[in-house]
Amino acid sequence: MSATIISFVSSKGGPGKSTLTTHTAIILAEGGAKVAVMDADPSGRMTRISQNADNGLGKYFTVFPNVTAENLVQQVQIINNDFDFILIDPEGVLSDLIVQIAKIAHIVISPMKLGQGDIEESTKTAAVINQVAKDTGRDINLYFVLNDVSTTRSGLDAHWLEVLRKSNFKTFQTIIYTRVAYKETTDLGVSLLELSPKRVKAHSEITRLVEEVFAAIKSHYEEK
Ligand SMILES: Nc1ncnc2c1ncn2[C@@H]1O[C@H](COP(=O)(O)OP(=O)(O)OP(=O)(O)O)[C@@H](O)[C@H]1O
Ligand SMILES: [Mg+2]
Repeated sequence: MSATIISFVSSKGGPGKSTLTTHTAIILAEGGAKVAVMDADPSGRMTRISQNADNGLGKYFTVFPNVTAENLVQQVQIINNDFDFILIDPEGVLSDLIVQIAKIAHIVISPMKLGQGDIEESTKTAAVINQVAKDTGRDINLYFVLNDVSTTRSGLDAHWLEVLRKSNFKTFQTIIYTRVAYKETTDLGVSLLELSPKRVKAHSEITRLVEEVFAAIKSHYEEK
């Protein structure tokens, strides 16, 4: 059996790719899956997270370091049969790496914050992915997810939510809110359920997102 490939991508740094990759990987592992994370960011953040001796995230997933646009496909082929899921964590720049990811991923998810700048960046990401789809004839399964959204919703947030609703971006219903718990996990190397008290709200948010990701993959491939 070959792995399901999931990648969070963005055209700029910081919307939450590594955070969502980490939490998705943990949820999948908690569900009993074998999970690999390909560290395709030259900063090596995911590699450090898993290798830090004080940090226990390595027990949830195996990180493969130094993945690049040139070696991605080969690296995925090597481990494809050994894992249920392969998550690819790229840097925040529209590069050939994103093109390579779009060619192989079962789903590409672009996190964005709520605001004009992020919506503009997401438009750029969508344009690149759509171009890959055109060039390759591949129907790429692209979704957006709102991340790091304030729990106290402002009128401006409501405005941008409406703008998004009217756009043709496929956006997950689940909104990931700004919660210190998401940082605690990556910084302290413990899962949301290992923290005391357990971070139940964050855990249920991520669980709902992962359920939506599953549904999106299922419907995309059933259509074929
Ligand atoms: N939902 C959230 N709640 C609280 N903090 C968050 C959330 N999402 C991301 N952050 C914080 O925002 C910062 C950027 O997140 P992250 O490193 O996941 O982004 P990235 O897209 O991987 O960035 P880069 O492009 O630099 O790799 C981190 O400090 C992270 O802890
Ligand atoms: Mg990152």
